[in-house]
Amino acid sequence: MHNSDVPTPYLRIDTDRVHRNVARMATYAAKHGLGLRPHTKTHKSLWLARAQLNAGAVGLTVAKVGEGEVMVDAAEDVDLLIAYPALDPARTGRIAKLALRTTMRVAVDSLQAAQALAAAAGAAGTTIGLLIDLDVGMGRTGVPSPTDALELALAIDRVGGVRVDGLFCYPGHIWDQAEQQDKSLNRTAERLEEAISLFDRNGLDRGIVSGGSTPTAYQSHLVPQLTEIRPGTYVFNDMNTVRGGFCGLDECAAAIVCTVVSNAVPGQFVLDGGTKTLTSDRCLPDRESGHGHLIEYPDALIARLSEEHAQVDASRCTAVPMLGERVTIVPNHICTCVNLQDAVWWTQPGGQLKRMAVDARGRLS
Ligand SMILES: Cc1ncc(COP(=O)(O)O)c(C=O)c1O
Repeated sequence: MHNSDVPTPYLRIDTDRVHRNVARMATYAAKHGLGLRPHTKTHKSLWLARAQLNAGAVGLTVAKVGEGEVMVDAAEDVDLLIAYPALDPARTGRIAKLALRTTMRVAVDSLQAAQALAAAAGAAGTTIGLLIDLDVGMGRTGVPSPTDALELALAIDRVGGVRVDGLFCYPGHIWDQAEQQDKSLNRTAERLEEAISLFDRNGLDRGIVSGGSTPTAYQSHLVPQLTEIRPGTYVFNDMNTVRGGFCGLDECAAAIVCTVVSNAVPGQFVLDGGTKTLTSDRCLPDRESGHGHLIEYPDALIARLSEEHAQVDASRCTAVPMLGERVTIVPNHICTCVNLQDAVWWTQPGGQLKRMAVDARGRLS
């Protein structure tokens, strides 16, 4: 199919850019002796997970068990990490089932989660690896201090059916420009170092120290304790990563193609994609920058969204699109946009587009 044949709004993926983004991160990780365990919540695609594994990824990260149930088919013996505190029976039983097929690890921050996973593993006749989630400043999940990490690890060590495989952190609070991240990353390194020395003194395994995000990815070597990183957004990038200064627009590999459906109101045009396409996520580094970036009309401001309409303020534009014209938007937050699509369209040589399912779309449990 060609662009003009695909009904809008649709999500177009620039295949060459994806390959470049995948290769660049793989090269960085290899150069610094870091394992790369990409977070697949961004693309939810088996094809892309395989591309990441073929480029050298040591395994895959998922947030939800349902994503794991899809990603387990990415390769034989794919090593999966659930970067989410899964503790309810609806999740733990399914994780144990997956552990019968492949290496499964889960990041936990409570004894209750470890016990629930242990019970499920015991019932299924398998074991599950656990990483102790240590908060390094985001304040979302993770035990508050290295001493708490030690206490949790020691308590888990006495529980059968699970094993402590190391430490886990997520520096999701760090959005400073790359060259200004050293202070925050040094603090992360200090916390991990303290936890590691406590683990070592108490004979606990700290084989894996898992961290990383897209904004900090290329500075991960400043946290020498890390053995692996879990960036996800880097495969596509979005306006968050552009405005944060972590990539250029020409490294954004995913964009929403929309049609101009109205220009009846002076100074404005309207596109056929609203919150059900672009999501209502604002751009974190610049909340005034609107609901995404219009490539062909960079001075236009996507000012307001309803479910199926984007109202674009054209007052600063020297040229405006015609009714029926197709335009391209780099969204603020690509991961949530992908999850709204049944399928995305990948560019092919010769200008064709190929439809590919979003395999783990809607796998939220
Ligand atoms: C626990 C965890 N690890 C890794 C990532 C990947 O980070 P990014 O989206 O910056 O690539 C996320 C993102 O939400 C996450 O929640």
